Amino acid sequence: MASANELFEAARAAMARAHVPYSKFPVGAAILTDTGRLFAGCNIENASYPEGWCAETSAIAHMVMAGERRIAEVAVVAEKMPRVTPCGGCRQRLREFGAAGTKVHLCDETGVVETVTLGELLPKAFELD
Ligand code: THU
Repeated sequence: MASANELFEAARAAMARAHVPYSKFPVGAAILTDTGRLFAGCNIENASYPEGWCAETSAIAHMVMAGERRIAEVAVVAEKMPRVTPCGGCRQRLREFGAAGTKVHLCDETGVVETVTLGELLPKAFELD
């Protein structure tokens, strides 16, 4: 299994690929699945601003397309924020494939600053059935 630091490194490498000409706010995210696989993503913005999407969303897309469905741990990093947290929409997207106890490593550019759970970030998550 990848360590929290390996997850951070994957998120930071993904952040370098961010397409952020409008916000100039690069973000990277990495997901460790319950099978031990690692997927990363960056934010990808668009001239039509609402059409851009978050780093976490890119990482989830890679995970799903690889046939994986369960998130064990997440790391998120932003170049310009000492301890970035996933946005509200991404909390719900991560919860789709994770659990209340899923660890989310909040990072700065040097490593993990704080580890919280998805349940802490999104209490009373919306769930069908
Ligand atoms: N962003 C993410 O990629 N993840 C988050 O959880 C917070 C926000 C991106 C969206 C946009 O490209 C930029 O950060 C500024 O909001």
